[in-house]
Amino acid sequence: MSRNLHRGINKLTQLHHYEPPKWASKLKNIPRYYVKLAQRDTPIHHWNLPSLPKEFSLFIKRDDMTGSTLSGNKVRKLEFLLADALDKKCDTIFTCGGIQSNHCRSTAVAARQLGLDCYLFLRSPEQTTDIGCEGNLFLNKLVGSQIIVVPQLQYKSGLKQMMEKVSEKLKEQGSSAYLIEVGGSSYMGMFGYLTAFQEMIDQNVLKNFDDIVVTVGSGGSASGIAIGNYLTGSKLKCHAVNVCDDAAYFYQKINEDLQIGGLDVQAEELIDIIDGYKGQGYGKSTQEELEDIVEISRTTGIMVDPVYNVKAIRGMLHEMNTNPGRFEGHRILYIHTGGVFGLYDGRMDPLVTRPALGINDVVCWESANDPMPF
Ligand SMILES: Cc1ncc(COP(=O)(O)O)c(C=O)c1O
Repeated sequence: MSRNLHRGINKLTQLHHYEPPKWASKLKNIPRYYVKLAQRDTPIHHWNLPSLPKEFSLFIKRDDMTGSTLSGNKVRKLEFLLADALDKKCDTIFTCGGIQSNHCRSTAVAARQLGLDCYLFLRSPEQTTDIGCEGNLFLNKLVGSQIIVVPQLQYKSGLKQMMEKVSEKLKEQGSSAYLIEVGGSSYMGMFGYLTAFQEMIDQNVLKNFDDIVVTVGSGGSASGIAIGNYLTGSKLKCHAVNVCDDAAYFYQKINEDLQIGGLDVQAEELIDIIDGYKGQGYGKSTQEELEDIVEISRTTGIMVDPVYNVKAIRGMLHEMNTNPGRFEGHRILYIHTGGVFGLYDGRMDPLVTRPALGINDVVCWESANDPMPF
């Protein structure tokens, strides 16, 4: 291929030197490299969400569109984390999460694209290998990751030791493992959302909105947005709706990033964690949440996942209705963090097989000469 034809074509494994935006240059411990994985800029558009209170206008930033099988917020974090793994000459990635973890799926797919092996330590309520291959698991299996199911109790107490054992074994075989912590929410992963914040500045978000709302599950996305907002001196108010743990846990998590970054400010001053909307708990769905997914899909054509985004949206709408003063203004930007494969894990099936437009949604029409069957 001639030089010209090469223009714009990157080797996936190419390490790019990371130059933080000017406003972030005072941060300590800035990553050296990133790899290009995410499709950007992700679009921002108006979102006519059902039951949005009239005084609010709502737009959505489509971080569910950072890729196809790599989609969602995790891809942005993985750009830094996997670059670090390559820089350290590791050939195997370890990470962990729930059995349907989006983060694990994104990591498994991205690792394979970069020529790395991937071991997924997946938390399960039961001791079983019979985990099926629905949703994210399908893709994990398709790219050939090593799946290690770890029963809930062991996951809490023995995971680190298990990882160390596998790591030792790999070392003896001449391999070197790189550990990505749950959700990719380390200080380094946080840079994925600092970068997203610059993208939003370039999309005029600072001028056009009063508030940003995102969901929070392990903390990295909210942390990057809150720190970006603070460092730029922006007047936006950031909110994050938690789907697990509680507000204190996430303030603490963001405070850790602030400390590593050398910033003398408290997370509580930078972001409003909206607690109280995790429903029956992490990964569990109520019938109303699932019904909302169907309604949002059928009225707006935007699909939200059952574990993160539908809970955050319900929380945001409830706060808009009952506590509108919690928001800085009325122009809200919601960041859709992806998770589409969670819709294929089986829990939605009974709802989507219900008729939508009429009594028989699915009809078979054998011939144009026959009467219309609907
Ligand atoms: C679809 C989706 N949205 C949101 C989150 C939460 O983001 P964070 O882990 O950065 O808090 C996750 C993962 O945890 C996710 O998979």
